[in-house]
Amino acid sequence: MLTWTLWCGLVFLLWFYFLWSRRRFYLFTLKVPGPLGYPLLGMAHWLSRREDILNSFAVFLEKHGPVIFSWLGPIPFMIVSDPQVIQDIFTSPHCINKGIIYKAVDDGAGTGLFSLNDPHWSIHRKLLNPAFGHKVLLSFLPIFNRETALLMDQLKPLEDDGEKDLIPLLQCFTLSVATQTTMGSDAKSEENFRSNSLLERYQCALNTMADMCFSPWLNSRFIRQLVGKESEYYQAKTEIRQFIKKLIQKKMVADAQESSLPPIQAHDKNIFLNLATDLLRRGVFNWKNVEDESNIIVFGAFETTANTVYYTLMLLAMFPEYQEKAFEEIRSLFPDTGDFEVTYNDVQQMVYLDLILNESMRVVPPVPVVSRQTSQELKLSNGIVIPQGVQIAIDMFHMHRSKKIWGPEAETFNPDHFLPHNIQDKHPYAFIPFTKGIRNCIGWRYALISAKVTLAKLLRNYRFRTSFPFEDLYFVEDITLKLKVVPLIELQKRI
Ligand code: HEM
Repeated sequence: MLTWTLWCGLVFLLWFYFLWSRRRFYLFTLKVPGPLGYPLLGMAHWLSRREDILNSFAVFLEKHGPVIFSWLGPIPFMIVSDPQVIQDIFTSPHCINKGIIYKAVDDGAGTGLFSLNDPHWSIHRKLLNPAFGHKVLLSFLPIFNRETALLMDQLKPLEDDGEKDLIPLLQCFTLSVATQTTMGSDAKSEENFRSNSLLERYQCALNTMADMCFSPWLNSRFIRQLVGKESEYYQAKTEIRQFIKKLIQKKMVADAQESSLPPIQAHDKNIFLNLATDLLRRGVFNWKNVEDESNIIVFGAFETTANTVYYTLMLLAMFPEYQEKAFEEIRSLFPDTGDFEVTYNDVQQMVYLDLILNESMRVVPPVPVVSRQTSQELKLSNGIVIPQGVQIAIDMFHMHRSKKIWGPEAETFNPDHFLPHNIQDKHPYAFIPFTKGIRNCIGWRYALISAKVTLAKLLRNYRFRTSFPFEDLYFVEDITLKLKVVPLIELQKRI
């Protein structure tokens, strides 16, 4: 027994020495400040509670500055919120691969554009880029318009009826829009969509994936079973897969019976699923590629856009003076309430709404932190060399709220931040809600057009109010940003 204990102690000391000497080596050569954390753990314990992650990042930022080096257990780890360093990272061919935390996305949603490593990622991205070209996006306008009109029908019973949680309605709406625009079929025709069970499954899958990102031991199925997280998660991802498979099969059957194709599919080979199934027929994609990419596109599209619309309405409810300005702009284009058609020309004319959307995504970035890893040594423009194999968290949340970059009002909502004379001197990577560079969001233009159509119709027809103060918002890091308490919103009918 004594020998066994001595051996264990020796192994532990060697491991401890190895880590600390590597730590000192890295810190010495990198010349980047940061918390050493605890032996073996590094800073991992600070990041295991999702609720505390953004606060921990804020503390490190305050103490060590916008480029921080530390350890997650044995893994070298950086947190970056400096725009120039972020530009160096996002434009480097050695930083295309996502960080290891995205392993959870592979498990829950499949290995698609979001988490593929290079060179597979570059190949898929080139093949799928046409699905987000300008003409394709224009062809979605009738869907954005029609679905927003249906959303307004659903909002009718909530008019002047006190404060309500709008997120579930908005998520149903964006899920239906996402399936129609990318998969060519309407999720509303599925029973589990109508009964809300599909949305619950999506929430469960997203929630467990976020747990797995920040508590890596949950990537083990065995441990998920032990802590009781596996069965519901398994059911959720299976039901979502079946839903996606069904939409793909529907499309394949419709292709076989050409005459029954809805017009949007028949006319555009670049609609996402048309493109993917064509690649399948030509042997470029296999069936798993089509399924994974479809799953990822729908995952990527619906929650982010629902949250963006919700956060914007919430902020406008908290800052009524800006809501009135947006309303005046929209009313000048659409004098009457009720339903109206928003064209691309209208979308371009709503310039104040652009300021509002940008400011909303600045103070409440829908994706607060993204992660990359260096596949080779990377030399930054400040001369620092990041070794291969370092995990990098890009902290958009704090960069967007940095007083050094955005001035004294950085932490509050003021669309004037995006007036031309205020934005012109900002670093081009100081505002990156969709990231930028080689691996930015493929759906960024889709998101902006769809959000503007939705907001135009909602803001023309309703005044949004809330009793929840901006100062009480508590942000929680997730794959997408969450709020600890979701403010409820009241809709007052406009005339
Ligand atoms: C306001 C809405 C949206 C926001 C804020 C947003 C944000 C982002 C961000 C920050 C990334 C980079 C993630 C990373 O580097 O880890 C990303 C990637 C991605 N987004 Fe979006 N997104 C939005 C809407 C959409 C839409 C509408 C779609 C599809 C229709 C979409 C599909 C994707 C995909 C597929 C990726 C992975 C791209 C790649 O790695 O090549 N997103 N998004």
